[in-house]
Amino acid sequence: MTKTSTTRNHSLSLQWYERAQQSLVEGVNSPSRGSAVYTAGPIFLERGQGSHVWDADGNEYVDFMMSFGALIHGHAHPTLIEKVSQAAAEGAHFAAATSAEVEAAERFCRMVPSAEVVRFTNSGSEATMLALRLARAHTGRHKFLKFEGHYHGWYDPYLLNAHTHPLEQLGPRENPARIPDSQGIPPATFDDVVLAPWNDVAALEVVLRNHPHELAAVITEPIMANMGCILPHDGFLQRLRELTRDYGVLLIFDEVVTGFRYAPGGCQEYYGIRPDISTFGKALGAGFPVGAAAGPRSILERMRWGDSMVLHYGTFNGHRLTMKVVAANLDLLSTDGAYRKLHAMGDAAIAELREVFRRRNVKAIVQGFGPMFQIYFTDREAIHDYRDYCTYVDTQRYSRFVHRLLDNGIYMTPSNGLHWIISTAHRVEDIALLIEAVDRACVDLA
Ligand SMILES: Cc1ncc(COP(=O)(O)O)c(C=O)c1O
Repeated sequence: MTKTSTTRNHSLSLQWYERAQQSLVEGVNSPSRGSAVYTAGPIFLERGQGSHVWDADGNEYVDFMMSFGALIHGHAHPTLIEKVSQAAAEGAHFAAATSAEVEAAERFCRMVPSAEVVRFTNSGSEATMLALRLARAHTGRHKFLKFEGHYHGWYDPYLLNAHTHPLEQLGPRENPARIPDSQGIPPATFDDVVLAPWNDVAALEVVLRNHPHELAAVITEPIMANMGCILPHDGFLQRLRELTRDYGVLLIFDEVVTGFRYAPGGCQEYYGIRPDISTFGKALGAGFPVGAAAGPRSILERMRWGDSMVLHYGTFNGHRLTMKVVAANLDLLSTDGAYRKLHAMGDAAIAELREVFRRRNVKAIVQGFGPMFQIYFTDREAIHDYRDYCTYVDTQRYSRFVHRLLDNGIYMTPSNGLHWIISTAHRVEDIALLIEAVDRACVDLA
C-alpha cells in the first residue's frame, strides 16, 4: 500500500452516493453510515481482504472499524469462506432443525460461562429485545433499569438517553431528564424505564432502593462501547451483581460488542461476573448477521412451548449458513493464543498512539485496552461516563481527525461514539501504517 497518499479521489463513491439518494433513504441503510458522520458523503466499500478494504475508486485502507466490530477475523477469512460456500451449495437455510445450529450452540455454551443454553437471533437488537421479554416473564415485573448513554439496539424501550446532548439538557445526575432517541415511540413505553448514571454505585443503590419489587432487570454494557470505550470502575460490575441479586432483579449483560472479543466468554469471563441473561451479536457471526440470548435453563426455558411461554419466533433464527460460520468462528477463537494476540496487538497500538499524541503535544487520550479502544480529544485524564462524554469530548475535532486518516489510508468511522477494533487479521505493519497516518493527521490539525 502506498504510504504517502494524501487527498484521495472519491469521485466514484460520490457518484454512487448521489445515485443511492434515488432509492435509499439518505442513500444508506443505517444512519451511522451516511451524512450523519461522513462530511462529504460515505466512502463506498467494495472489497475486503484480511485487515484491508478497497473502495469504489480503488483506494486501499487498513480497516479499524471492522464492520462495527463484527469482523473478529477480518475480511474474507479462508476457513469461513469455505464453510459459507459449502453451506450455500447444500442449501443455505431450511427454517427447520439442523445439526449446524446444535454444533454452534454447543461451542457457544462451552465458551460463555453463564450460558447453560442459548437461543440464536438475527441481530443484537433482537437478542436484547428477547432478553427483556424473558426477564419480565421470569420476574413478573415490567420496569427495568438502563444506564444513561448505553445503547442496546433499536427496540422501543431502549431508546431513551442513548444519544448525546449538551449537559444543560441532561437534568440532575440523580434524576436524569428523559430524552427519547426516536420519534414514533408511544411515550407510555418509557413509563417502565428507570434511568441511572453508570459507574456510580451510590446512585445505583438509591435507584434500587426507590424501586423495591418493581424492576425486572438492570441491563448494562459491561464496557460502555457506544460513547467510545468507557471502562467500568474497579468493583462497579461486582457491586452491580451483588445489588441486583440482593434486590431480586435480574442482571442482563449486553455483550453484543464485548462478547467473544475480550475473552472466549466475553466480559463476564474477563471480569469474573455471572449475569442472569446475556446478549451477543457482532463478533459471534464474524461478519454474518446473528445475535444470541443466553443464560440458565431456569430463565431461557420460559420459551418452551406452552400456555405461559415467552414467544420468540423467526424464519431466519439459527440460519444454517450463519450457524456454520458461527461454529467455525468459535473454533478459530478457541485456538491457542487467539486472545493473547488480540490483546497484545491492541495494547501495542494503544501505547504507540499515546506516544504520538504526547510527541505531537496533542491533548488526546486513548481509552480502552486490548482489542477495543477509542481516542478522545479532551483535557481530561479519563472519560468515566455519559455526562463526561457529552461535556468534555471534542467530537468535532475527532471527526476532522478521522477524515484526515481516511485520506491517508486508514478506514474508521468519524463517529466518536464508536471504537477502534483489532481483529485477528491485523498485523504489525497495519499498526505502523496507522501510527504514520495519525502522526500526519496531528500535524495537519495543529
Ligand atoms: C451494546 C449493543 N447492544 C445491541 C446492539 C444492537 O445490535 P445490532 O446492531 O446487531 O442490532 C448494539 C449495536 O451496535 C450494541 O452496540
